[in-house]
Amino acid sequence: MLKKISLRMRLTLLSAMVMAGAAVILTCVFLFGADRIFVRNLPQEFIGSSEITLSGAAAEDMELASVTFTIKEAGNRFNLWGTAGLILVLILGTAAAWLVAGRALQPLEELSDTIEEISGNDLSHRVEIRDRQDEIGRLARSFNLMMDKVSASFERQKRFSASAAHELKTPLATIAVNLDVLALEEAPPAARLEKVLKVIRTNNERMIRLVDDLFRLTSENGSIVNEEVSLEELLAESAEELSRPIQEKHLTVSIGSMPGLKLTGSRVMLSRAVGNLFENAVKYNRDYGTISISARKEAGKIIMRMADTGIGIPKEEISRIFEPFYRVDKSRSRAMGGSGLGLPLVKDILEKHGGNITVKSTPDESTVFILEFPENNFQEYVVDTE
Ligand SMILES: Nc1ncnc2c1ncn2[C@@H]1O[C@H](COP(=O)(O)OP(=O)(O)O)[C@@H](O)[C@H]1O
Ligand SMILES: [Mg+2]
Repeated sequence: MLKKISLRMRLTLLSAMVMAGAAVILTCVFLFGADRIFVRNLPQEFIGSSEITLSGAAAEDMELASVTFTIKEAGNRFNLWGTAGLILVLILGTAAAWLVAGRALQPLEELSDTIEEISGNDLSHRVEIRDRQDEIGRLARSFNLMMDKVSASFERQKRFSASAAHELKTPLATIAVNLDVLALEEAPPAARLEKVLKVIRTNNERMIRLVDDLFRLTSENGSIVNEEVSLEELLAESAEELSRPIQEKHLTVSIGSMPGLKLTGSRVMLSRAVGNLFENAVKYNRDYGTISISARKEAGKIIMRMADTGIGIPKEEISRIFEPFYRVDKSRSRAMGGSGLGLPLVKDILEKHGGNITVKSTPDESTVFILEFPENNFQEYVVDTE
């Protein structure tokens, strides 16, 4: 019931109640005081009678032969004035409280209007603060701060969707163009058919990889996985998978000994994280370059270091390489089958395992990724089940 009444009305009622209480107490004190001080101090014979005639000694003092006055009437009049004053104070006070509450709540009304103006597509509105230092100013500031965060996140999501659509469009367009060209010929030769088939297969695989990465990066569903995973084994598997490009680029890979170093979490996801980093170290390396991987325990952490002698990353780009779809050289990455989701995925996996990743790089010389995992990390890790 109380919640249905406006805040302004509630404040007014509250003030009116307080005022009424105070006024009633004050009036009672007055009436009681008047009774005690004036009426009870009168000679005994005056009290209770409605009409008194002064005579004798009293009459001489007052230079009046006889004074007649009615105590009861005077008392009644006093009571009447007191009650009228009380009602007047209440009416005026309530009106003043209504006005003051309205003024005090005006900024809240403005805040509500601004919030109502904000639509799903335009998050640029902000509340005017005008140097207010009170609670309303604080509320408005918090609201504006929240809007900044919401709008930044909205922009990120928009960019993410646009990039995802663009990344999917490229292979689809390539397939469409190849099919159109093929359709122009009545009986295309087998070699041509084979070439188009290869293009379709490559682009299809690319899209599957992309959708798979997108799905993993955005999905929150999962079940708890808590496996013990040997880091050495993960690295050996990745090296095996990448053996072909390693050979083609004549790279030297050295994996330092790391006996008994175990991570806890999802084997599939940890293998994907280590594999993505390893793949980058191969992809962005120079011919006849090296990749050195080492790991050690230190202060309750397992620290892995993966260094390559590749093209490096310019200083100003380092902070952005963990953003989805960000690539220093887009055409180069795409030519190598990359979509810019590798590092965001690595970061996400590490964070879910309680770890973190940092990078140091010198352009045209080397790049070092440093991964930190908590030792004996028996936290619950949620991995996609679909
Ligand atoms: N080891 C590395 N050496 C140089 N540049 C790298 C390395 N790893 C990542 N990068 C840069 O970071 C970008 C993002 O990496 P990633 O998210 O794995 O995307 P992708 O490999 O699909 O391009 C890469 O495009 C590349 O420009
Ligand atoms: Mg990559």
